[in-house]
Amino acid sequence: MYDPVERRNFYGRVHGKTLRASQKTYLEEDLERLSLPGVTREDNPDRSPIDLTRFAGKPLWLEIGFGGGEHLVHMAATYPEIGLIGCEPFVNGIAMLLGKIRAAEVNNLAIHPGDVRDLFDVLPAASIAKAFLNYPDPWPKARHHRRRFVTQGYLAALARTLQPGAEFRVATDIPDYVRQTLEEVPQAGFTLRDQGDQPWSDWLSTRYEQKALREGRPPYYLTFQRNA
Ligand SMILES: C[S@@+](CC[C@H](N)C(=O)[O-])C[C@H]1O[C@@H](n2cnc3c(N)ncnc32)[C@H](O)[C@@H]1O
Repeated sequence: MYDPVERRNFYGRVHGKTLRASQKTYLEEDLERLSLPGVTREDNPDRSPIDLTRFAGKPLWLEIGFGGGEHLVHMAATYPEIGLIGCEPFVNGIAMLLGKIRAAEVNNLAIHPGDVRDLFDVLPAASIAKAFLNYPDPWPKARHHRRRFVTQGYLAALARTLQPGAEFRVATDIPDYVRQTLEEVPQAGFTLRDQGDQPWSDWLSTRYEQKALREGRPPYYLTFQRNA
């Protein structure tokens, strides 16, 4: 559920396995420089729109819940003319991303190491040209479906930040998540453009997708467009 700004519950994991020494170094040396200032409530209590001039006018794409960061870094390396923003609260995932950024030497990427709802509060309206939601937490139990990203609170906040005509991609391995996505996303001001079992031509399979495939859950890909 999309809680009011003052009282947001985050149900996912923020910490996992102990970090390797190299990962601690990445966090100490790189995280602050790569983090967008003005996103947290401590940093920006008035919730003023953040300054995105670090991207020098490049079109901006957003990945929500980047996990280990493989898709995000792949997109940044494939599209140097784009600015990428990634959002993820799980510290181990953030550390993995930072290692991949070093290895790929990409410099068109910034992150918010926290909840995407805090980022939605302060992203200027219509600032994002494409958004990716790869394997959002499935929340399989019916009483938890309202925690899913594809509910009206999250989707309205996403829609506000997207430019008219912006693409919104969703990948999932959960048939009931497909059902809810097809029901909810159009209600938030999007038109379905494509769906099926074939990924986008520039797709890079994520860790979660590899696990789903090993466990016999086939991927499904949906493409929406923000209405004008
Ligand atoms: C099932 S994992 C998939 C990770 C990655 N996209 C992949 O495909 O491997 C879902 C991710 O969404 C993140 N997530 C959940 N709620 C979030 C939120 N409110 N804001 C940002 N990320 C969130 C979780 O921390 C988790 O890493």
